Parts: sequence; structure tokens; C-alpha cells
Amino acid sequence: MKNGVFITFEGPDGAGKTTIINMVANEFKDAMLTREPGGIDIAEQIRRVILDKSNTKMDPRTEAMLYAAARRQHLMEKVKPALDEGRVVLCDRFVDSSLAYQGYARGLGIDEVFTINQFAIDQMMPDLTIYFDIEPELGMQRINSNKGREVNRLDLENLEFHQKVWEGYHILLNRFADRIVRIDASRTLDEVFTETMKVLNERLKQRAL
Ligand code: TYD
Repeated sequence: MKNGVFITFEGPDGAGKTTIINMVANEFKDAMLTREPGGIDIAEQIRRVILDKSNTKMDPRTEAMLYAAARRQHLMEKVKPALDEGRVVLCDRFVDSSLAYQGYARGLGIDEVFTINQFAIDQMMPDLTIYFDIEPELGMQRINSNKGREVNRLDLENLEFHQKVWEGYHILLNRFADRIVRIDASRTLDEVFTETMKVLNERLKQRAL
């Protein structure tokens, strides 16, 4: 029986998502912080294939199914056991990434990608999703100025692709208006963090999740 709280964090590349999540996890010491593939061996192996820069021939449906497969393994091995124990789970990216990147930006269709993901997640949708919103141009600028950052296969996509990712997320914001909360990530890290904590504290207090 699920009785924990499942919170996911989403956003286009360069939104500062990962930095903010680490700051949030510092405040919620009892929460479990994870990210797909979350150190789960099988999921890590799948992910390596997806993000390998030499896999230029990868078909978009193959990519979508591999993400769903990695997601399933991470969910079953790590997320579900923590929720069953009643813990708060903070997860960096989940199903909405697939809907925005594969469903919308790659053009597979949000509904089609949702269908294969429903098989993978089996009703286990997040209780709350924080979406860090950043205009694609600004996101790309931030990535390019962060020289130490590892470049993966999806980072190599052009601005047009990232523009579509952003549009995809905005479709999801409308579609899942009760679940997804938008936070403007073009501001300073401190401002974004403060607003994120405010949203999380309000929602957790209400437990109206
Ligand atoms: P990740 O390593 O989590 O990078 P980031 O720090 O940007 O979150 O994700 C790698 C890339 O994979 C990122 O560009 C988003 C993409 N992605 C998808 O296309 N579909 C998915 O289902 C997921 C989880 C990620």
C-alpha cells in the first residue's frame, strides 16, 4: 500500500533543476532523494545505451521504450519500497520528461508515449510535480557557460528541439494543472529555491496531495 508522498521535479535542460533539488533535499532530511536511473544497476545499464553519443542511429520509439524500461526498474527497486514505508520521495525527472522530450519534441505523440509509460508505472503517478520553467535560449546559455558539465546525446540537439521540449512541458502544465506547479526558473537560485520550499511546505502541510 502506498502511503508516502511522491514528488517529482521537471524542466528543460539548463533550468538549474538538479542544483535546486539538492538544496531541497538538504531541508528534508528524512526524504529519499533520487533521480532516474537512481543508481539501480539495471536502469543504469539501460540509460548508458540511451545517452551514448555514438548511438546516433537510435530510433525515437526505441529511445522512448528504453526510458520507460529504466523508469520501471527504478520505480520498483527504489521508489515504491520507499513510498510503501511512508517516506517522502523527491525524484529528479519522471514520466513528464518522456512526455515532453519523446512525446512532444521527438514527435511520437504525448498520448502514445503516455500509453507505454502507463504500462511501466502502473498508476504510480506523482502526487506533486514541480516544473522549473526556463526559456530555451536562456537554458542553452546556462548550459554552454557551465563548462564542467558532462555533455550527453540529448544536449547535442539543437535549439529547435529544446524549444519543442519547452512547448511540450507547457502542454503538460495545462493538461495536469492540478498536479504540476510551475516555478519561474529564470530568476536567481535563491529566489527559485525559496519559492520551491514555499510550494513544498504548503502542499505537505495540507497533505492535500
Ligand atoms: P539527466 O541526466 O537527468 O539530465 P538533467 O540534469 O538535464 O536532468 O537527463 C538526461 C537527458 O535525458 C535530459 O536531456 C532529459 C532526457 N530525458 C528524456 O528525454 N526522457 C526521459 O524520460 C528522461 C527521464 C530524460
